[in-house]
Amino acid sequence: MNKQAKTKYGIHSLLENRWSPRSFRDISIEKEKLQRIFEAASWSPSCFNEQPWRFIVGEKGNETYNKILEGLVEFNKKWAVNAPVLIVSLAKKYFSKNYKENFHFLYDTGQAVAHLTFQASYEGLYVHQMAGFNFETIKNNFDIPDEFYIVTVIAVGYIGSPDLLDDKLKESENSERVRKELSEIFFKEKFGLSWE
Ligand SMILES: Cc1cc2nc3c(=O)[nH]c(=O)nc-3n(C[C@H](O)[C@H](O)[C@H](O)COP(=O)(O)O)c2cc1C
Repeated sequence: MNKQAKTKYGIHSLLENRWSPRSFRDISIEKEKLQRIFEAASWSPSCFNEQPWRFIVGEKGNETYNKILEGLVEFNKKWAVNAPVLIVSLAKKYFSKNYKENFHFLYDTGQAVAHLTFQASYEGLYVHQMAGFNFETIKNNFDIPDEFYIVTVIAVGYIGSPDLLDDKLKESENSERVRKELSEIFFKEKFGLSWE
């Protein structure tokens, strides 16, 4: 399925070809690839090098996977059940050295997931992040301490055919990808004035 970004200036092909599919092939991910995508996440920058991110990794067939899947909202459960790997991303709210609030804990964790995603693209894998999960179910299923916020659930796998999905999901799988114009998001001189 080709959903290549329609770029104006041309960007790296790994970024251009990344998108969030809901159809995954029924094959597992090689351990070395998982090791590399996790290592990529760990090399992300963070405020004071706190590295506030943590990840719980479930592989299809194991208990962790089932506990993550149980926590997804029904809409996401329907398609994510086909992904070979489901990951919960967590972020520590406080700095370890002084227990002060870390205002950038979510920012840093998102950036670590971006690194993971870029390496995944390099490995021929696709990533689909989800906010649609039940916070309490995930928290209870994994005894997550209060100082950690549950950020997302992340599906990772090899892309499958849209034909594996029901009609509604298939339609969104085939739909065009859209983005705001750069003029709407990059400014100069004052807020709202296009950089371009
Ligand atoms: C934080 C976050 C939460 C998301 N939550 C969901 C979700 O619960 N279910 C879903 O199907 N897609 C979810 N998505 C996927 C987005 O809808 C998708 O990234 C966006 O439409 C852009 O499409 P693209 O990733 O294919 O470029 C989420 C993405 C992010 C980054």
